[in-house]
Amino acid sequence: MAALLKVTLIGLLLALVGERIVHFIYQGNLFREIEPVDLPNCQLLDGIEYGSEDIDILPSGLAFISSGLKYPEMFSFAPDRPGEIFLLDLNEEIPRPSSLRISRGFDLSSFAPHGLSIYIDKKDDAVYLFVVNHPQYKSTVEIFKFDEEEKVLVHLKTVKHSSLYNVNDIVAVGPESFYATNDRYFWDTTMRHVEHILGLRWTNVVYYSPEDVREVASGFYSANGIIMSPDRKFLYVADPMGKTITVLEKRDDWSLSPVKVLQLETIVDNVSVDPVTGDVWAGAHPNGLKLLNYNPEDPPGSEVLRIQNIHSDNPVVTTVYANNGSVLQGSTVAVLWENKLLVGTVFHKALYCHLE
Ligand SMILES: *[C@@H]1O[C@H](CO)[C@@H](O)[C@H](O)[C@H]1NC(C)=O
Ligand SMILES: *[C@@H]1O[C@H](CO)[C@@H](O)[C@H](O)[C@H]1NC(C)=O
Repeated sequence: MAALLKVTLIGLLLALVGERIVHFIYQGNLFREIEPVDLPNCQLLDGIEYGSEDIDILPSGLAFISSGLKYPEMFSFAPDRPGEIFLLDLNEEIPRPSSLRISRGFDLSSFAPHGLSIYIDKKDDAVYLFVVNHPQYKSTVEIFKFDEEEKVLVHLKTVKHSSLYNVNDIVAVGPESFYATNDRYFWDTTMRHVEHILGLRWTNVVYYSPEDVREVASGFYSANGIIMSPDRKFLYVADPMGKTITVLEKRDDWSLSPVKVLQLETIVDNVSVDPVTGDVWAGAHPNGLKLLNYNPEDPPGSEVLRIQNIHSDNPVVTTVYANNGSVLQGSTVAVLWENKLLVGTVFHKALYCHLE
């Protein structure tokens, strides 16, 4: 009897381990190779060599690009180089990124920007740039005011809070308030592996304002990119490890109610919304292993998805661009302005395309 119990227990354990391994391979797309999908009229942006993790664009066509991410488990070509924010004018025929000056008093040496988000104050047309920062591998949100005349970011405030523990991305919703995603529960690298392997869904979306901080959505493997719909009624949250995009409806008190979850085949990193059509665009990683174990001989690729009619019963998902890393490595985000597309990456270059 005892022997039988032992065999059963070992069997169960093996089944559990097997299930975890299968799940892990599935989640990470570990063996996936991609079919290339080319876009004509694309070029790499001059001067961006160390990442272009996040991009947000003003209605006028001025784009902000965060560069120089430093994050646990992520490769960097220049681990000691401080991060920067590039400005790019998409009205120019061949846009040239320039590194934005940041006002004195802000610690540039530890600047490690991640997600960013523009907020325009309708009262006086002031432009605020919210940037997730990881100084000394911590998580803060830096609020800047953009002085367009002088082309300088004036630092206003650093936001820190115990609920903002592993912030990845933000959506600014007021001069001092935002939604933020935490992409891991643990900070420690070993515990992050445990969290990943066990498939814990302990990450969330937090609403922050100086008076009120609370979790507004939970149950994600790794809540990552977050963006608001053009009518400002919905939020879209990308979960790379779940390979999903979750649609949430915003209520008047800033709480969120889940609407639907769209399952995809690839590791979606960050999302943007076409302000004209409402289409959701996503940057994605074809293969999780290649992203995390960087090998210049067999680099991670890039993938751009367009999702039309995400609110309908039959959203249409199209792979607009796919490359094996020979051109662009580790794409995180794709943002459209008029017929121009910018594709950012975790630690590599940035691609600029004229769509037909
Ligand atoms: C995701 O993309 C949006 C623009 O669509 C940007 O505002 C945000 O900073 C990006 N986040 C990350 C973590 O890359
Ligand atoms: C990537 O694709 C190009 C052709 O598009 C090919 O020449 C190259 O060998 C491929 N690289 C890898 C690492 O598969």
